[in-house]
Formats: sequence, C-alpha cells, structure tokens
Amino acid sequence: MSQTREEKSMPDITTGHYPYAEKHGVIRNMPTEGRPRDEILAELEEIADAENQFWREGRVSGTMYCGDMDHYGFVGEAYRMFLHVNTIQRDICPSATRFEGEIIAMTLDMLHADAAGPECVPAGAVTAGGTESILSSVLAHREHARAVRGIANGQVILPTSAHSAFRKACHLFGLEEVVAPVDAETFQVDVDFVADHISDRTVMLVGSATNYGHGVIDPVEALSDLAGERGVGLHVDGCLGGFILPWGEELGFPVVMPDFRLPGVTAVSADTHKFAFGPKGTSTLSFRDKSLRNQLYFLDQGWSGGKYFSPGLAGSRSGGLLAGTWAAMVSLGRAGYLEKANAIFETSYAMQDVVKSHDELRVLGDPSYLFAFNSDALNVYHVNDAMAERGWRFNGLQHPDAIHMCVTLPQTLPGVVETFADHLAEAVAYARAQGDQPARSQAIYGGVPPELNEFVVDAISSILDAQADVPAS
Ligand SMILES: Cc1ncc(COP(=O)(O)O)c(C=O)c1O
Repeated sequence: MSQTREEKSMPDITTGHYPYAEKHGVIRNMPTEGRPRDEILAELEEIADAENQFWREGRVSGTMYCGDMDHYGFVGEAYRMFLHVNTIQRDICPSATRFEGEIIAMTLDMLHADAAGPECVPAGAVTAGGTESILSSVLAHREHARAVRGIANGQVILPTSAHSAFRKACHLFGLEEVVAPVDAETFQVDVDFVADHISDRTVMLVGSATNYGHGVIDPVEALSDLAGERGVGLHVDGCLGGFILPWGEELGFPVVMPDFRLPGVTAVSADTHKFAFGPKGTSTLSFRDKSLRNQLYFLDQGWSGGKYFSPGLAGSRSGGLLAGTWAAMVSLGRAGYLEKANAIFETSYAMQDVVKSHDELRVLGDPSYLFAFNSDALNVYHVNDAMAERGWRFNGLQHPDAIHMCVTLPQTLPGVVETFADHLAEAVAYARAQGDQPARSQAIYGGVPPELNEFVVDAISSILDAQADVPAS
C-alpha cells in the first residue's frame, strides 16, 4: 500500500469540508492571467492523491467500486479521446451511437433480454447515473400509461426502502407515491400491501435488486406476477446490484438477478459507474420494449434554433463518458466481471461472518455483496464512531438505526478482512463502554456541506468589498 498521509504531508481531508485553503489559498474571483499547466496539474495531483488515500486501504463502503489505478488510467485514456465530443450532435460523432448502442446491447444480454418475448423489441439508454435512469424510467412509464391507458393522474407504488430517486421522480413528474412497508425481519417489500393498493391510476411498481440500505433483493417474482395480472409497469432498480448480481448468480452464490426472464419486468436500471467499473457519470436504463424507450425522445419542431431532438432528459453530454464506459466493459468482458464479482462476494460473506461472531451485533435480512448490521444491546453509531476513528467509512441507516458496508474491490485486498475483524472487536468494546452517551455519527446520505454556501457567500462578499474599494472614476 502507498505512503500514509503523514509521510506525504498531505492535507487531511477528514478535518473539514474545505481542507485545501491553507495550502492552496482560495480563489475568490476570475484570475486575470492563466496559470501554467504543469503547476495546475501538480496541484490537482496532490489533491487527488490526498483523497485517494482515504479509500485505498479498503475501509470505505461503496463509492470507489474498482480502485485499480491501471484500470482508471485506461478508462481515462478512452475518455480523453472523446471528452470534447458532444453526443447530441450525432451527425459528426457516429461513434456515440456505436458506443451507446453496444453498451445497451451488452447490458441487455446480461439482463436476459432474449427472454423478453417475440412481441417485444428490447431497447435502452445510457444516462448520467442511477438517479437519471430512475427519473427517466418513471417518466417513460407515466407517458406510456397516459398514451395507452389514458391515466392523467398516475401513482407509483414503491417500497419504503426504494432509493430516494423514485420520490424525486414522483415529485418532479407530478405522480402520487404510494409507499409500501417492508418486512421488519427480511426488509423485503410487503407484496400483499402492493397488491391491495394497485388501482386504475397505478402506472408502475418498483422492486430493488438490491436495495441501497440493506442489500436485500425484493420479491420481484411476485411483483412481476402482479404487474402482469394487473397490466401495470414494473421497474427493477438494479442501479447498485445490476452489474454484480448476474455474475454472482452465474458463480453459484445464493442470489438471483430479477431481470427480463420475469415476464412482468418492464424496465431495469443498472449503473455502469458502480460495479461495471466505468467512469462516474454513467448508468444504463433497459426496457423490455421500445414502446417505453420511445417515450423519452423529445422533439420540439417549431424552435427558432432548429427542430430540436434529444434522446432523453439530457441535452449535451460528453462522448468521453460513453467511450470510457464502453472501454471498461469490453476490456473486462464476462471473464473479468466474473473474477471480480467472485472476490467481492467471497469478501462480503467473510466480513459478514466477522459481524456474526459478535453476539451483540445482528446482520439484517439476507444480504450478499452489501450487508447492514445493528444491535439491540449497543448503540450501533458508537460502533461506527470507533470504526471511523480507525479509518472506516460505513453508511448510516435509520428506521431502524444500522450501518452498512457495500463491499467493492478495495475490500478484497489481502489483509482487509483481518483488519476489519480486529477493528470491529475494538469498536464493540468501545460501544459497550459508552452506554447512553450520544454518538457522534448519524445517518446521512450525500448532501452539500453548509460550509459550501458560507464559502461562496464569503467569496462573493470579498468581491463586493474589493469593488467597493475601487474609487469611482
Ligand atoms: C439502489 C440504488 N438505486 C439508485 C441509486 C442512485 O444512483 P446515483 O447515485 O448514481 O444517482 C443508488 C445509489 O447508490 C442505489 O444504491
């Protein structure tokens, strides 16, 4: 493993949201003159190195799915060749059509679109990430239901564990969300609740494979039966699991990817920027039939800028994202993905055994590559606090309080499971000693630090101050 932060005297990024000011200063207005490129690149490299130290020892859940710098370098090369290309101008970049088409073809193959049925023409799109795939799917289902079933005021039935992107989609697209509970032991959606709440206005159902919180696969087979019987759509959220569960299934781990083999499944999202090891900013959205995909094309015939035509929510996009994703997928192929998935599943089950070796801790549901745990005896956030002290970054959950680890390739490095075992034992002892003291960590996902606003306000006021100092001519 590379040098520690102290050895390289790097900024400590754990000390706050803006750790670079001291060393690099703060830019508060547009520089009058440009800086030399080599100086800029050296500064960027230092910042990147500092941030990479944080996850390279395999202690960060999710986020850095690959971690192999050679792979990132290769994907970066592919990206670099097309970073300036705008994929909306397909007449001058037919490469984008090739890359996008082949990314979708490979994804449909993995998701068994050949089982979609003779009446269907499977199709798909590459989007900017899981959230955009989910937004696009909800929009496509809304538009399809409006056109075919005349539903003006639709609703979506989603498990409470479904990713917040579905709620964002309902919010943006004026759909009612009907939130189904999950079982307190299995964390899978309550199918009876879903069945009881399907109405004339139901546009689509949602199941996760896996869900973000507990790494659990919903009973999609039962949802598929319901969707088929009642004539509604069914989106499988494979944003996280879509590029690992199929390989886990093939390898014989106890998982099954709910895909187009289930007749009621109308759409599947699977993020290429997670377990497909593509560049950040890409995901796939696959449809059982092009009639849903076609709802995403947007045509504005009368615009003075020309007849505007876009294939999805985005306008301009970098061809580099498509090239980098395509390159990642074809460089790994089935054999590469199977090998990496095998290491991830084995590591995750080994880490789960470590958790289960502590009587006070409980692994939730029936997870695979991502596992959550909590405790009746301890405050699990005390455990998290002590693990954070030792460089671990779990994701915090609520209702009930728990923490999770999404196992990625950095955790498969030699010695990580053993270190996890040692540190977890210390963390459990620490949590025991804390009793009712409040914990420092809590359940927060994403967010922009308030310091950012303060920072921008501060920078703007310094510009205004500077302008005020300029004597009026
Ligand atoms: C199950 C699931 N769905 C959707 C998303 C959203 O993906 P993104 O953050 O790429 O927008 C995530 C992100 O982790 C996820 O885990």
